[in-house]
Amino acid sequence: MRRRTFLKAGAAGAVAVGGAAVLGNWQANASAAALDPAPTTPFRVGVRRYNWTRGSRPCTTYVYYPATGTPGGNPVTDAPVAAGVFPVYNFTHGYDSSPQNSLFIIRALAAAGFVVPAPHFQHNFGDVNNGNTSRDVSEIITRTLALNSSGPLAGHINTSIGVGVSGHSLGGMTTHGLLTSWPDSRIVSANPQSCTDMGNPASSVAAKVLFVHGDRDDLTQYSSARQAYSEMPAPKAFLTFVGGSHTSFWSDSRFPATVVDWARWSMYGDTAARDRLPSDAAGSNTRWEANLGIPPAGQRYEAENSPAVCQGTIDSNHTGYSGSGFCNGTNALGAYSELTVNAAAAGTATLAVRFANGAGGARPANLVVNGSTVATVSFESTGTWTAWSTKTLTAAVNAGSNTVRLVPTTAAGLPNVDYIDVR
Ligand code: GCU
Ligand code: CA
Repeated sequence: MRRRTFLKAGAAGAVAVGGAAVLGNWQANASAAALDPAPTTPFRVGVRRYNWTRGSRPCTTYVYYPATGTPGGNPVTDAPVAAGVFPVYNFTHGYDSSPQNSLFIIRALAAAGFVVPAPHFQHNFGDVNNGNTSRDVSEIITRTLALNSSGPLAGHINTSIGVGVSGHSLGGMTTHGLLTSWPDSRIVSANPQSCTDMGNPASSVAAKVLFVHGDRDDLTQYSSARQAYSEMPAPKAFLTFVGGSHTSFWSDSRFPATVVDWARWSMYGDTAARDRLPSDAAGSNTRWEANLGIPPAGQRYEAENSPAVCQGTIDSNHTGYSGSGFCNGTNALGAYSELTVNAAAAGTATLAVRFANGAGGARPANLVVNGSTVATVSFESTGTWTAWSTKTLTAAVNAGSNTVRLVPTTAAGLPNVDYIDVR
């Protein structure tokens, strides 16, 4: 449900628009293309101004980026870009503000290894509430990604992993609007700061969303952001500054620390950054709530249990197996064992395959996840059929159900397959 506050008195009649096609089918290979890990040392920050437009609407944008030279200090206009390929993380300022007034967060993101397009809007409430401002940000994202093709930032922008969006107040509402009423499916990470609820989460957007809000905010209601948070699917988190106002957290170093690690995790796949989040946010007068959608450790899927498929027989004649048996695949090329496994969130999963191979030679097999061959695995001899061993593989998985199939690439067939543990 949309819940109005005085900040969003405008009409709600909006048409959802998808993101532009610059990224194409990025979602299919998002995990494969993920950068890992994030840069560990900070960059100097450069900035370039672009006088973009969307139709008749000005979309003047300052693009901040990692630059060569000594870190620290103020952003340097037109500084040479640092070596590397960096993900895009937008920031949109609030009413009567500017990128230059928002360096508390822009500088932290750019210094950490992000290209940060920060529009300078002459905000008006009507345009935020009717979606024009969210659409402006979509256009700015498209223009920013296009900078990878020519000009001084060419070759330094990661255009294949999706983008992040953030913003404060009207910029936070613009950000939430991009996840809801005016969705942009390129978004994989978001950070609405001091926002209000702009609508229902759009099924076309799969983003990790971090809310930041002071619970004494008298401009954008905390309760409205809470409503937005409750409706948002995981992975998500909420950093509350207890007793905090609309802007008081700007000067609290836990704010950029948490946002930057959120961006590192969601854009670079940096799980160490993810694991730092609770401590980034901790201390007096903060509250950290998170549902990061991490699958619980040690989910086990037995090869003999439905809906698993065994092209062969379910046997129990060799001891040491788990559950009630194992899959003895027919000794033939292509005779597979398939398991259906669940993941709480899309991302890279660890698949631990337990097997026994009492034959003399290896029993190689393709690892086929959701119909795509992602690796060839050599299941070496374990000596005897009662000697079980575990092979640890990694693969990109979708949130929810995934099929994992082991397909032998020789006429010898598979080893005996006991189970897959998903971590
Ligand atoms: C033996 C063994 C089976 C195994 C088979 C094979 O028959 O008992 O469990 O599957 O060899 O070579 O695949
Ligand atoms: Ca067999």
